[in-house]
Amino acid sequence: MTTAPPPPAPAPTVGLIGLGRIGTVLLTALRRFAPEARVVVAGRDPARTAAAAASWPGVATLEAARLAAEADMVVPCVPPEAYRAEVAALAPHMRADALLVVVTNAIPLRDLGPLCDRPIVRVIPSPAQAVGRGVALVTPGPGAGPGEVERVVALLRRFCRPVVVDPADGRVAANLAGSAPAILAAFCAAFLDANAARATVSGPAELRAMMVESVAALAALLAEGARFEDVVARTATPGGTTEAAITALDARALGERLVAATVRREAQLLGLAPPPPLARGGSAPSPSLSGEFPCR
Ligand SMILES: NC(=O)c1ccc[n+]([C@@H]2O[C@H](COP(=O)([O-])OP(=O)(O)OC[C@H]3O[C@@H](n4cnc5c(N)ncnc54)[C@H](OP(=O)(O)O)[C@@H]3O)[C@@H](O)[C@H]2O)c1
Repeated sequence: MTTAPPPPAPAPTVGLIGLGRIGTVLLTALRRFAPEARVVVAGRDPARTAAAAASWPGVATLEAARLAAEADMVVPCVPPEAYRAEVAALAPHMRADALLVVVTNAIPLRDLGPLCDRPIVRVIPSPAQAVGRGVALVTPGPGAGPGEVERVVALLRRFCRPVVVDPADGRVAANLAGSAPAILAAFCAAFLDANAARATVSGPAELRAMMVESVAALAALLAEGARFEDVVARTATPGGTTEAAITALDARALGERLVAATVRREAQLLGLAPPPPLARGGSAPSPSLSGEFPCR
């Protein structure tokens, strides 16, 4: 982030339950970019949780019930299958003015309302937040109005670009804001490997450095206003090797295949019927969260 926005006032106490991948990302982001916030953590194994938090002085490891009683924002960072039980266990201890922040897309927010009578806001973070970048998707749930959304957004602004998203576009937003870095990274790794397999003199470190610099160069070009299409057009000389690679990529079909896979998997996770295939030239609605708590 270039210019840090002002800290929210008063600074919140954020309670993270579960220091796995995304819990650790949020802990890192909060400590690096929102030092005014108090952070408390809890986990199934308190000693392991305390050890995981030890690199950030001042982060207290508490029992989950005590964390829920102290936090302004209670943030379970546990797998979807554990979410309902975790929320049900935390809810009775939460302060009257506390918010429940839900970090998974795999649980309909309406399922959590009966388990927790505090306002619920969904935030889908991404690992990019550990370095103060990326989009976090924000969706108001049961009991959450503009004031609650603003409390969450004000904190997120310290380390990323929060976007309040209508649930009707929840899947496409999650793909572009959350999954895209991992999908691009997977492609880069495969492209690097395919080239490394043919290299005769250059070593792996040198090849990796070239790939990393190419990704950084793309980011710089985009930051200066180039569009994806511009970068392709500037690089792919008609009849040349880059054009041959881009033709072989068949990117339009690949993109559609990836998106269809996410839509199918989300429907499975939510226990919904498989989505219909995308009509030619049309758009299929996301099967998941459509109609649920549209943005206010
Ligand atoms: N990873 C991402 O990039 C990402 C992005 C957006 C949202 N999310 C959401 O974030 C949540 C966590 O994902 P993750 O990738 O961080 O998973 P993870 O790395 O597997 O971490 C899961 C955490 O939950 C704890 N846990 C596991 N099973 C539990 C249970 N039955 N009861 C209580 N705690 C339990 C684990 O504790 P132990 O260490 O004791 O096993 C661990 O701290 C998921 O709901 C996911 O949808 C993840």
